[in-house]
Amino acid sequence: MTNILIKGGTVVNADRAFRADVITQDGKIVAVGENLTAPAGATTVDAGGQYVMPGGIDPHTHMQLPFMGTVTMDDFFTGTAAGLAGGNTTIIDFVIPDPQENILDAYRKWRGWAEKSASDYSFHVAITWWSEQVRQDMGTLVQQEGVNSFKHFMAYKNAIMCDDETLVNSFKRSLELGAMPTVHAENGELVYLLQKTVADMGIKGPEGHPLSRPPMVEAEAANRAIAIADVLNVPIYVVHVSCVEAAEAIARARARGQRVYGEVLAGHLVLDDSVYRHPDFATAAAHVMSPPFRPKGNSEFLWRGLQSGNLHTTATDHCTFCAAQKAAGKDDFSKIPNGCGGVEERLAVIWDEGVNTGRLTPSEFVAVTSANTAKLFNIYPQKGSVSVGADADLVVWDPAGTKTLSVKTQHSKGDFNIFEGRTVKGIPSHTVSQGELVYVQGDLRAVKGKGRYLKRPAFSDNFAANKLRADTLAPTAVKR
Ligand code: URP
Ligand code: ZN
Ligand code: ZN
Ligand code: ZN
Repeated sequence: MTNILIKGGTVVNADRAFRADVITQDGKIVAVGENLTAPAGATTVDAGGQYVMPGGIDPHTHMQLPFMGTVTMDDFFTGTAAGLAGGNTTIIDFVIPDPQENILDAYRKWRGWAEKSASDYSFHVAITWWSEQVRQDMGTLVQQEGVNSFKHFMAYKNAIMCDDETLVNSFKRSLELGAMPTVHAENGELVYLLQKTVADMGIKGPEGHPLSRPPMVEAEAANRAIAIADVLNVPIYVVHVSCVEAAEAIARARARGQRVYGEVLAGHLVLDDSVYRHPDFATAAAHVMSPPFRPKGNSEFLWRGLQSGNLHTTATDHCTFCAAQKAAGKDDFSKIPNGCGGVEERLAVIWDEGVNTGRLTPSEFVAVTSANTAKLFNIYPQKGSVSVGADADLVVWDPAGTKTLSVKTQHSKGDFNIFEGRTVKGIPSHTVSQGELVYVQGDLRAVKGKGRYLKRPAFSDNFAANKLRADTLAPTAVKR
């Protein structure tokens, strides 16, 4: 195994930034300090003028996902390799069982597909239906397989949508198991109705997509999921928060003292809904994802959420479909496979629009791109921290480096880049995964199958605190 000395950089953790060298050995960080000397045979990386940060963790990707009648372009190798090129060393992807499918069978199927991953990976498991068997199997996943989060799609009626009965049962079971329930918050009944209403108005193109999923559709579901979590006293994590109304629901609940966490996608932070009115069908359809890009003004509110601490993590929902796949919805926007890419661009886009504009400090950037995710999903400080004993998953970040993002230069297999033409300042110069240099100044050295499945222990701190709070406030009977 390679030993690496990263010399002369500024180490950035979520709590502070400081000048230090870093030594990695056998896949772990073994020293962080000033003026370290290279162990014999070590490779030296000159990080002068650069930042040394924990590798990005993308808590929301869909590699090789069978969805809406097709399968995403990026598989676990190409998708994680693209992630490494962008400075990401871990993804958390999703096992999505079909309704009635045994969830352990689905989990094993996804584990098989993911064996080709180039970076470390883990899985949230979606609960798409309910039975006593599902209840038991959730226990097996948590206690034996290291799954500590379950996903609930409140949209996609007649497919993977979870009704309130399933939601309530699964949240309650998640609480018993110490696993974080997560939700895709959109009211699937309303989407179903609005898709018809919009089509009846004669709107069949991609511009109908956002009309069928307005912000209130997301807000209703976010509020409902948050309310259910509150009643059951379970923490909750809302994925891809895209609009003011949903972000406000989270902020309000947090102000009441509820443990609610929110994730934001890089795309929602910088794009708006004008993309759906592009005259070229393929371009407009390439942006079809759910929740959709929102009217101008929503992005700034999401940035404020990250700044204020009401939103916590950033992701991509990387889910690439090519033009031929998107063409399935040529005459009906509701049939356009939902999903966009971004795993390779997230860090650079968020640095450029976040740190370069003063919205985030470098430490805040680390918090929202790796450390907060690692804490919420209980893999901190193994991941999300540059500290002795942590995994040697690092990105050396060149704040002066620039790049124009483009489909022509991306590693992702998609044929579109939602950030096309955007010139970013601040890019990875080196990515270290498991103590190996896997990306060096444009040279991607991703190795198929090198990534490891990450088990995540149950009962993050949230659960003990929630229990204590409930015990503290427990009602008492009147003695008569
Ligand atoms: O449009 C999206 N986001 N596609 C992937 C599935 C999901 O909803 O996360
Ligand atoms: Zn979703
Ligand atoms: Zn998703
Ligand atoms: Zn294709």
